[in-house]
Amino acid sequence: MQDRTVALLLQGYGWLPDLRRRAPNGDVVRTRLLGRTAVALHGPEAVHFFYDEGHVRRAGALPGPVLDTLFGRGAVHTLDGADHRVRKALFVAGLTDPAAVASFVDHAETAWRAAFAPSGGREVVLFEEAALVLARAVRDWAGLPYDDGEVGGLARDCLAMVDGFATPGPRHLRARRARSRQEGVLARAVEEARGSTVSAADTPFAAFVRHRDAGAGLLDLHTAAVELLNVARPAIAIAWFVAFAGHALHRWPETREHLRDDGPGAYATAFAHEVRRFYPFVPFVGGLAARDLEWRGEPIPEDALLLLDVYGQNHDAALWPDPYRFDPGRFLSRPPHPDALIPQGGGDVHTGHRCPGEDITVAVLAALSRALARQEWTVPPQDLRIPLRRIPTAPRSGFRIALPPV
Ligand code: HEM
Repeated sequence: MQDRTVALLLQGYGWLPDLRRRAPNGDVVRTRLLGRTAVALHGPEAVHFFYDEGHVRRAGALPGPVLDTLFGRGAVHTLDGADHRVRKALFVAGLTDPAAVASFVDHAETAWRAAFAPSGGREVVLFEEAALVLARAVRDWAGLPYDDGEVGGLARDCLAMVDGFATPGPRHLRARRARSRQEGVLARAVEEARGSTVSAADTPFAAFVRHRDAGAGLLDLHTAAVELLNVARPAIAIAWFVAFAGHALHRWPETREHLRDDGPGAYATAFAHEVRRFYPFVPFVGGLAARDLEWRGEPIPEDALLLLDVYGQNHDAALWPDPYRFDPGRFLSRPPHPDALIPQGGGDVHTGHRCPGEDITVAVLAALSRALARQEWTVPPQDLRIPLRRIPTAPRSGFRIALPPV
C-alpha cells in the first residue's frame, strides 16, 4: 500500500475525510502513514475503543518533529499506564477545579479589558490580540516568570510552536527555535525556584516545581519546562478559537445579538461548543496499537498507527444534522455527549489522554466571545478565507477588526 504522508501534507483537513469517503467501510480507513500501517477510526464507539488503554499506547507514537515543536520530549502526551496517571493527575488537579477555571476566566477578562480599553480608532488583528490577552492571563493565573516586556515573546513563541508542527520548511524551523527558547527560560526559572529559600506562593507554577513523578523523583528541569509549556502553549492557542469566534459573529450576525443579550451565559457556552465543533483545528489524534486488535471485523496489527478522526467526526451528519450549518442552538438544550464532540479528544480526562484544559477552553472562549460581541467593531475589507489545506488554519487575515474612535 502506498504511503500517504505526502498526501496528508498537501490535503490538510480534507485528507482523512477524503480517504473515508473512498473506503469500502467508511468507519475504518486502512492506509500507510510515516512508513507504518495506519488505521483510522471514526464515531463515538470508536472513541471508546481508542481511549481504552489496553488498545492504544502513546510511547513512541508521536514523530520527533511533532515532539520538538508542539508537545516537547517527555511530555504527558507520550506517557502510558501509571507514569501517565501520576503526571496527568497534576494537570487535572490544577486545571479542572471549578475555582481554578473561574479564576482563569477572571484573568482573561481583565486582560481583555486592558487590551481593548484604549479602543479609539485603531485596527486590531483579533488572532494576535487574543494571543496576547491569553498570554497575560495564563502568566498571571499560573504564576509564570515573565514580566510585561517578555509576555509578548511568550505569546509569539507559543503561536509559532502550534503553527509549525505539521509542516516542513520555515514555519517548522521557527517552531523548533520557539520551543528551545521557551524551554530554556522555564527550565532556568524552575531551577531558580528550587534553589530559593523564600517560600513559593501556591500557584500552578509552584505545583510543577514541586511535583514528584511515579518514581517519586522531582521532574528534571527540562521535563518541568516541557510540562509548563503544556499549560502555557495550549492556553495561548485558544486564540485560534477566538479568531474563529470573531469570524462566526461577522458571518452570522444574529449570533452576536444572542451573545449580547445572554444573561446567565447558557448561549455563550453553546456558542463556544459550536465554534469548537464547526471550525477546523485538531485534524486527528493518534497512538499505536498496544497488541493485535480487531475493530468491526478489521484486523489491526500490534504497533500499527491508530488515528481517531477528530475533524471528520465533528462534521458527521449522523451526529450533527446539517453539519456545515453554524448553529449554537444544537447545544442549548443539552450539553454535548463527551464521546461525540471531540475537538479536544475523547474518553475520560482522569484515566485517558483527553485534554485537561477543556473546561478552561470552553469557559474562556464563552467569556471572550461575549466580550467581543458586546464591543463595537466593524470588519474592513480583508481575506477571510480559511484554507483547509493548511494545518493549523485560521482566517487568512487573522480577522482584522476596526475599533471606532471614542
Ligand atoms: C491534550 C486539544 C486547550 C492542556 C489535548 C489533546 C487534544 C487537545 C486534541 C489530545 C487528546 C489525545 O491525545 O487523545 C486542545 C485544543 C485546545 C486545548 C484544541 C484549545 C486551544 C488546552 C488548554 C490546556 C491544555 C487550555 C491547559 C491549560 C492539554 C494537556 C494535554 C492535552 C496537558 C495532554 C493530556 C494527556 O496526554 O493526558 N488537547 N487543547 N489544552 N491538552 Fe489540550
